[in-house]
Amino acid sequence: MKIQGNTVLITGGATGIGFALAESFVQAGNTVIICGRRKDKLKEAKKKLPQIHLRACDLSKEKERESLFNWAKENFKDMNILINNAGIQTMIDLKKGAHKPANGKNEIETNLMAPISLSAYFIPWLSKRKEAAIMNVSSGLAFVPIAAMPVYCATKAAIHSFTVSLRYQLRDTSIKVFELVPPAVDTELGKGTAEEGEPEYRGLPPGEVAQAALSAMAENEYEIFVGEAKDLAMRSRTNPERAFQNINRW
Ligand SMILES: NC(=O)c1ccc[n+]([C@@H]2O[C@H](COP(=O)([O-])OP(=O)(O)OC[C@H]3O[C@@H](n4cnc5c(N)ncnc54)[C@H](OP(=O)(O)O)[C@@H]3O)[C@@H](O)[C@H]2O)c1
Repeated sequence: MKIQGNTVLITGGATGIGFALAESFVQAGNTVIICGRRKDKLKEAKKKLPQIHLRACDLSKEKERESLFNWAKENFKDMNILINNAGIQTMIDLKKGAHKPANGKNEIETNLMAPISLSAYFIPWLSKRKEAAIMNVSSGLAFVPIAAMPVYCATKAAIHSFTVSLRYQLRDTSIKVFELVPPAVDTELGKGTAEEGEPEYRGLPPGEVAQAALSAMAENEYEIFVGEAKDLAMRSRTNPERAFQNINRW
């Protein structure tokens, strides 16, 4: 699909992979809208990239997903690309008993329900565009889970499955469905998860992931495995037990 002249909404676009996507789409000649919860992060992003448009919202809440859709419909009539990128990641030790996520920290609502719900809101509207796309950001961990992040990995496996079905359901529409599968990337997401005394693994620069995403979109490559994520997905099929042991070895 063409990667210039679009109007793109990127959830969680103020930081990390989302911001790198925003930069790449702006550089390629697109109108870009980003959203996120923290107003200071949105403003910081606009300072670096004055062309972008901002919307503060908490996508873990259904009402705010609906109002994001209504706002986008009202203000960006040409919007034709939705990127479901916002995500959170939590270490959860189930031996400690019931897990009650704090307000705004619900991985199932943020990582899974928000992309499903936004897709459902936007699809009837996007299908009226000549060319449109939905891109869901999953993870290499969709294919081989890290057991210390059981809910995060489950949401990513679910978003992979959802994306496969969505692509099939929309095959006769103008909406192309992409899945971006990053490996470990150097963003805020995994900060603070390293064991005490161990160096944090920094991962790929987010700009590399964004460049891979735009190049693949231009070629209509719907499953975009970046870096080690491809190898991980492959090993999950050829030797799942070994892949699991390997990623959970520490
Ligand atoms: N970093 C990695 O190693 C890696 C690997 C594979 C996949 N991914 C995926 O890539 C995506 C982007 O993550 P990232 O690595 O770029 O981390 P990040 O910098 O922490 O970006 C996540 C973004 O999502 C936003 N967000 C979180 N909860 C939200 C909510 N309830 N409503 C609206 N926005 C919300 C955050 O902004 P606010 O906090 O201001 O809301 C933030 O801008 C995620 O889906 C993640 O799972 C990351």
